[in-house]
Amino acid sequence: MLILGLETSCDETGVALYDTSAGLLSHALYSQVEVHREYGGVVPELASRDHVRKTLPLIEQVIAQAGVAPTDIEGIAYTAGPGLMGALMVGATLARSLAWGWGVPVLGVHHMEGHLLAPMLEDEAPQFPFVALLVSGGHTQLVRVDGIGQYSMLGESLDDAAGEAFDKAAKMLGLPYPGGPHIARLAQDGNPARFDFPRPMVNRPGLDFSFSGLKTHTLTTVRACQEAGGLSEEDRCDIARAFEEAVVATLVIKCKRALKQENLQRLVIAGGVSANKNLRTTLDQALSKQGGRVYYPAPVFCTDNGAMIAYAGAQRLLAGQRDGQEMNIRPRWPMEELPPLGSAN
Ligand code: KG4
Ligand code: ZN
Repeated sequence: MLILGLETSCDETGVALYDTSAGLLSHALYSQVEVHREYGGVVPELASRDHVRKTLPLIEQVIAQAGVAPTDIEGIAYTAGPGLMGALMVGATLARSLAWGWGVPVLGVHHMEGHLLAPMLEDEAPQFPFVALLVSGGHTQLVRVDGIGQYSMLGESLDDAAGEAFDKAAKMLGLPYPGGPHIARLAQDGNPARFDFPRPMVNRPGLDFSFSGLKTHTLTTVRACQEAGGLSEEDRCDIARAFEEAVVATLVIKCKRALKQENLQRLVIAGGVSANKNLRTTLDQALSKQGGRVYYPAPVFCTDNGAMIAYAGAQRLLAGQRDGQEMNIRPRWPMEELPPLGSAN
């Protein structure tokens, strides 16, 4: 079954063609980062307008790249939530109009389910059950996954998401939005021995996260450097390093704890922060010591993309799920509300 996938929930327009027998045929991504940069964060109205401009040309592009005809497409999947209302509406309206015109089924997909299943696009896909760490700009969640649509929430952030914490720390260091990759770049040259940042909530039982204390600690350290003669390049690198190490250490401890609690050995990490190299290598090392294994998407499929939506949608469309007559956009949408694969929508 050949599925067109559209992702427009935030500030990337992602489009892909996924075939349930042949795999990923083509994908294209347009990032709005430049549009939002001067505002230091995503401006919802500008995001919607840019999706309006970019989605249809990207659809034409992936169809041409894959060497298929529009009439070959057998279903359409789009991100129905969570995300920005206007941005979601653009993808939903386009997907549903095309599906109506082409006479094919259409389905709204959960953005975080897309992230969670993105490692399935790789050659060595994880088998169910596994624990997933979802770390993006809006979410930090540990989920037990027994199958598609069989999700149990094990823990989540009580305040900022991990990606949001990266973005805020970056802002304090005068780095552009989104800050995660910039912090990671500075951290490479940072001295890990200079600052020791707190590892939030690791001494408390449970699998929830909190990053607001770390944010305050970062701000206090930046101010102390400024007062001691200005924030030098060295200070910025050392702070970035201490911040990254603290986030990574926290995530690793909670992942190990979740695997132990669930008596599982497979961990999937997905979402924008899973592109972080330090997180990947530290998790790899920590889990291989105890016989565990980490699965993650290719870096291009860690952050928002159309391929993950095409993949997740394809599994559900293949199982017979489809949208009804009404458009159902869910800017807030708990993942546990998703139906399992075998059930009707
Ligand atoms: O999944 P994503 O593209 O969008 C959401 O669904 O939120 O995640 C974006 C987040 C941003 O906060 C960004 O700073 C973070 O992922 N990010 C990273 C890295 N690359 C992206 N954080 C740390 N290290 C990275 N290399
Ligand atoms: Zn995302």
